[in-house]
Amino acid sequence: MPKKIQYCLIDITWIDKLICFFEMIKSKKEDKYFHPHPFDKLKAEELGHYKGNDFYFVQTRERQICGYGMLRGWDEGFPIPSLGIMIHPDHRGEGLGEQFLDFLHEQAGQKGAKQIRLKVYPENKGAIALYKKKGYVFLDVKEGQLPGYAKL
Ligand SMILES: CC(C)(COP(=O)(O)OP(=O)(O)OC[C@H]1O[C@@H](n2cnc3c(N)ncnc32)[C@H](O)[C@@H]1OP(=O)(O)O)[C@@H](O)C(=O)NCCC(=O)NCCS
Repeated sequence: MPKKIQYCLIDITWIDKLICFFEMIKSKKEDKYFHPHPFDKLKAEELGHYKGNDFYFVQTRERQICGYGMLRGWDEGFPIPSLGIMIHPDHRGEGLGEQFLDFLHEQAGQKGAKQIRLKVYPENKGAIALYKKKGYVFLDVKEGQLPGYAKL
């Protein structure tokens, strides 16, 4: 039977595992195309204590982190949240990215968002394919990245 995927808002109970996840991301240079913030211990601790309006989730299987994702922008007063997602490099191509995206869209919709935005490097072909599959449309490159939008 496939192991159950769960989603948890990050809190202090996730700090140690998040530090390991972030250190792995950094050591494998997986932050090349996705660097919304530093992937370090300090940021993992900050997220564990975060209490604002934005969402920071881990996607887990048997209490192990297989993905990290965020919806942010509400704290800054934007009505359209900005989405970011990182799947563990050992677990790509298993449909986790698509499932996580569906989950984040659902969360954003429940909070009243009508659209989602994101930015992706034109070289990040896998991510672009995923986003197009989920209905994102892209504008012209701005500051090296493609701005993308999806209606919810
Ligand atoms: C982009 C990323 C989230 C995809 O996650 P994933 O779990 O491997 O993706 P999935 O297995 O759910 O794939 C879903 C769809 O995405 C597309 N896709 C994903 N990876 C792809 C790749 N390497 N090449 C082409 N298409 C790809 C396909 O359309 C796929 O659908 P299909 O299986 O029906 O063909 C993952 O590669 C990742 O975390 N990358 C590093 C961080 C990053 O770049 N984040 C995005 C920043 S904007």
